[in-house]
Amino acid sequence: MTLGMAHSTGFAPASAGDGQPETDASLIYFSSASGYTRRFVEKLGIRAAQLPLHTSQPTLLALRPYVLLLPTYGGTAASPGAAARGAVPKQVIKFLNHEGNRSLIRGVIGAGNTNFGDSYCLAADIIAVKCQVPVLYRFELMGTSEDVAKVNEGLEKFWTHQSQKPA
Ligand SMILES: Cc1cc2nc3c(=O)[nH]c(=O)nc-3n(C[C@H](O)[C@H](O)[C@H](O)COP(=O)(O)O)c2cc1C
Repeated sequence: MTLGMAHSTGFAPASAGDGQPETDASLIYFSSASGYTRRFVEKLGIRAAQLPLHTSQPTLLALRPYVLLLPTYGGTAASPGAAARGAVPKQVIKFLNHEGNRSLIRGVIGAGNTNFGDSYCLAADIIAVKCQVPVLYRFELMGTSEDVAKVNEGLEKFWTHQSQKPA
């Protein structure tokens, strides 16, 4: 199932070890030039790694299990397929095209805007299905203080639970 992942390659395996920056952050996120998601992450006050803004830049290589946080850039909601095709930012697709990065994702958090109706945080849903991980939370724009508290608390519980899972 391709889920309309924008490129014919979908999440194709790519070779690692070609000089890419590595990160051991447990939260990895993408934020576009408008920076709403970055501002939300800054409010969390935890160490996090931002994916490069441009696909021409080398993407990150994750070194440990992580939660991915990303906004949706859906197309028109003309049809479910049309919305899904543009929903996941290309920068995130490039990151997840690396088999190692894909194998370390444990959950996803969606940023979006409820004005987009059925496409609200669609990119997080697409990645959850594609990578078989849970959507842990959804929030709008730069989030409220309640969102910040819930995500901080939720991530702490999530990683505690993960560490208690049998290997
Ligand atoms: C062209 C465009 C399309 C968007 N499409 C969606 C969408 O389909 N669903 C959604 O929930 N939010 C959508 N949004 C809202 C963004 O996900 C939201 O503004 C997010 O906070 C942007 O994060 P960023 O500034 O970190 O990139 C869209 C925004 C733009 C500008």
